Amino acid sequence: MAQAMIGRNFVKEWKLKELSGVAKTKLKNRSFERGRKMFAAGGCFACHRFANEGGMTGPDLTGAGGRYSPHDLLEQIIDPSKEINEQFVPVIVKMKNGDLITGVVVNMNGDRVTVNTDMFDPNQRVNVNRPQVESIEPSKVSPMPPGLLNLMREDEVMDLLAYILSGGDRNHSAFKK
Ligand code: HEC
Repeated sequence: MAQAMIGRNFVKEWKLKELSGVAKTKLKNRSFERGRKMFAAGGCFACHRFANEGGMTGPDLTGAGGRYSPHDLLEQIIDPSKEINEQFVPVIVKMKNGDLITGVVVNMNGDRVTVNTDMFDPNQRVNVNRPQVESIEPSKVSPMPPGLLNLMREDEVMDLLAYILSGGDRNHSAFKK
């Protein structure tokens, strides 16, 4: 998260209610370019694919605008742990020797469970040998960090939101002047 946010300052701790209210009237005349810039500055590309760009440790967000209302989209971003996408359930693996491994299961093969322990880096993987596992529990904490919007101004959040809702289409109505 640190590297994604370099050069940006804390703006405020945005609350869902406030931004959702703003989105009711301000999702027009938005800037596609700045929305895209915010998607990068917010670190979203590190974990999310969008219009064929970006990482793949998190869900592809190209179609998110079709699945979520502006309010629900904001909620997913502000409070990632409230509803965790079932394909990306984080786990806590307790080994018999007492070691704890937290991350997202990316592969299971026979006795081997592969866990990605750092969503910013798809290569950070640990192979766990099942016979040495004490327990595997789902975690209630999303692998997506909260508070990413807190480094953006209101206008920037609205551009980001319009960008996600557009699915990457510059001609989307939210960008009409
Ligand atoms: C460190 C990786 C990471 C970063 C950075 C990140 N996300 Fe996520 N995001 C995830 C993961 C993993 C999930 C799925 C788990 C969940 O639902 O909480 C997710 C879920 C979501 C969802 C719900 C999508 C769905 O279909 O379930 C939205 C919307 C979203 N992220 C938006 C964003 C936006 C916008 C940013 C940038 C401001 C961002 N994310 C930054 C990892 C990340």
